[in-house]
Amino acid sequence: MRKTRLAVFASGSGSNYEAIVEACRDGRIDAEVVLLVCDKPGAKVLERAKRYGTESFAFTPKEFESREAYESVIADMLDEREVDFVCLAGYMRIVGKVLLSRYEQRIVNIHPSLLPSFKGAHAIQDAVDYGVKIFGVTTHFVDETLDGGRIIDQGAIVYEGSDIEELTNLIHNIEHKLYVKTINKLISNKL
Ligand code: GAR
Repeated sequence: MRKTRLAVFASGSGSNYEAIVEACRDGRIDAEVVLLVCDKPGAKVLERAKRYGTESFAFTPKEFESREAYESVIADMLDEREVDFVCLAGYMRIVGKVLLSRYEQRIVNIHPSLLPSFKGAHAIQDAVDYGVKIFGVTTHFVDETLDGGRIIDQGAIVYEGSDIEELTNLIHNIEHKLYVKTINKLISNKL
């Protein structure tokens, strides 16, 4: 039987990409990652993709004349590879109309806060600065706003220490498990 085909979009280190690929490999997710799209040439996630043998493309979005032109190229790549769902994993870019219309309700994101609090690129630091004691992670469908869209799953942790690196690691560990849970719901039409 045809396996569900996933694409992962990332901009940075790629620990979530790796967690998804590992889960596909060991059967915790019944799907395969067929494409990695990266908008930062040189990002560490590209090395990880090479190691795992995932086809990957690194784009420089500002070289395109518009966001629509950039996204059209990506949407064509997704279609050619018969991608079913797109998982944003540290993809630090707003998704626009071209991708959202062609992959309606099929693009999800993970964010290191209890949304709708602390959207943006520095969620963990922002939450620490605010004095937060209950931290968390959210997966959600993607819309055309920053870290916006209907929430799918959340995980939380109480942390009252002051070591941001320790906290970040704890949050990443939650992310890696939560994304597996969300992708399983997504691919089994339970959403
Ligand atoms: C993750 O914590 C993810 O939730 C976050 O970027 C990190 C990427 O880590 N995403 C956002 O902040 C989206 N607004 P990774 O590259 O190791 O997966």
